[in-house]
Amino acid sequence: MVRRVKVGVLISGRGSNMAALIDAARAPDFPAEIVLVVSNIAGAGGLEKARAAGVEAITLGARSFPDKDAFEAAIDAELRRRGVEIVCLAGYMRILGRAFVERWAGRMINIHPSLLPLHKGLHTHERALAEGAKEHGCSVHLVTAELDDGPILAQARVPVLPDDDVDGLAARVLVEEHRIYPQALRRLAQDIRGGMA
Ligand code: GRF
Repeated sequence: MVRRVKVGVLISGRGSNMAALIDAARAPDFPAEIVLVVSNIAGAGGLEKARAAGVEAITLGARSFPDKDAFEAAIDAELRRRGVEIVCLAGYMRILGRAFVERWAGRMINIHPSLLPLHKGLHTHERALAEGAKEHGCSVHLVTAELDDGPILAQARVPVLPDDDVDGLAARVLVEEHRIYPQALRRLAQDIRGGMA
């Protein structure tokens, strides 16, 4: 049996990228397994999706803690308790603090719906359309203290079509997100596993 690297996924919403990671990890040769999903939003759609797939899913609300550091220390404790080695951000809508980012340096990745370094932050599809971009896409990157700024591990491009609206463009990008995020996780897990062998 190959050792599978344990992964925790942080979400805030519908969790379609989380679901893509869980699906990919079903393959017998996938080098990682999703052992925990953490949402900061109670009732996030992704929680039920995870549970339906047999993955433990919990909610930790920031308001239950005195400050951001305490909140993120609690997330970190849940991840450690399950032996998590890689954290995937999948539509996690809070900016993580320095201590958490440093704790997971090189082992935390994010999917962002733009061709980074273009369009960091929110409303990426709106901005690409407003600029008249001819192409758009998504990126998987290592998470660093600067928002959407870490080294890029994978990217996919899609055309922007003349009659595109935000929803149409977002849907075309999302298909690519679901394709490249598992690929990037596979590579990172292989690297981490190889480094420990
Ligand atoms: C995705 O577009 C992702 O790129 C961004 O937030 C969105 C999350 O969607 N970071 P989902 O929750 O994975 O469906």
